[in-house]
Amino acid sequence: MLKGKDMLSIHDLSVDEVQEILTLAKELKAKQKAGIEHHLLKGKTLGMIFEKSSTRTRVSFETGMYQLGGQALFLSNRDLQLGRGEPIKDTARVLSRYLDGIMIRTFGHERAVELAQWADIPVINALTDLLHPCQVLTDLLTIQEHKGKNLKGLKMAYVGDGNNMTNSYMYGCAKAGMTFVAATPENYRPDETVMKNAMDDAKQTGASISVITDPQEAVKGADIVVTDTWASMGQEDEHEARKKIFAPYQVNKELMALADKRAIVMHCLPAYRGEEITEEVLEANAAVIFDEAENRLHTQKAVMALTMC
Ligand code: CP
Ligand code: NVA
Repeated sequence: MLKGKDMLSIHDLSVDEVQEILTLAKELKAKQKAGIEHHLLKGKTLGMIFEKSSTRTRVSFETGMYQLGGQALFLSNRDLQLGRGEPIKDTARVLSRYLDGIMIRTFGHERAVELAQWADIPVINALTDLLHPCQVLTDLLTIQEHKGKNLKGLKMAYVGDGNNMTNSYMYGCAKAGMTFVAATPENYRPDETVMKNAMDDAKQTGASISVITDPQEAVKGADIVVTDTWASMGQEDEHEARKKIFAPYQVNKELMALADKRAIVMHCLPAYRGEEITEEVLEANAAVIFDEAENRLHTQKAVMALTMC
């Protein structure tokens, strides 16, 4: 179903395509643990354009490609002519002549969209200022592992900055039929268009999407509590000011006391202990959070295999 398609946003995927990715990710994870090779992308090459930093994304895509029998090229914009002003539309057409897929991590989402428009090969969004779909697909797999396969009706509470993770959680939870409540300060709400689209998607699955300002209210009875950095990449100059604004939005023991007793805490990492999450809560949930980090590998292998096969 996904063969030859781009993966820029979970909003563009059907409910069945999301399920297909999660099912293959689970299968590829089991195969890898059993030492079974699965060379679905033998002889294929992925170009990885990075205009922002990364630990998990770079290592998991590169390793994932290797495990699937292909190879990955790390293309930093410090080295590419793209970084010196070569147009995206030229870069897209040139890379399409050499590669079988492109992964991009960049600032404006429109850069990823333009790349996909001009490339003849699948383009995978590995984070833009607007969305981080690979991370949220990964999180859905991790929730299935820890809370059971049926995601429908589970409540996720997001506490903190209304950023690319919040936007993608809205899309992911909408497709999965979950109840999603974000608590953000009034001026740091997630993207309004994404919210509207997610609410439309939610009608299909019975999901519920809401954004409020009260973290206590959001977390009440939640099965999953998630947070993310208060200052995303590109917002480094605002970090100090944001620490004050977001102080009431810390995921700590007191806040977690309001969640379901069996609630899990997730974090896409990197985490800033003492800011969006306390050391105590992070370490108490380390098993889940590092499964989440590991699952980037398995989920992205599924995305690459399904789009690039
Ligand atoms: N979670 C995530 O995308 O991590 P990196 O920035 O290290 O890739
Ligand atoms: N919101 C964060 C996510 C990092 C994986 C950022 O964009 O920096």
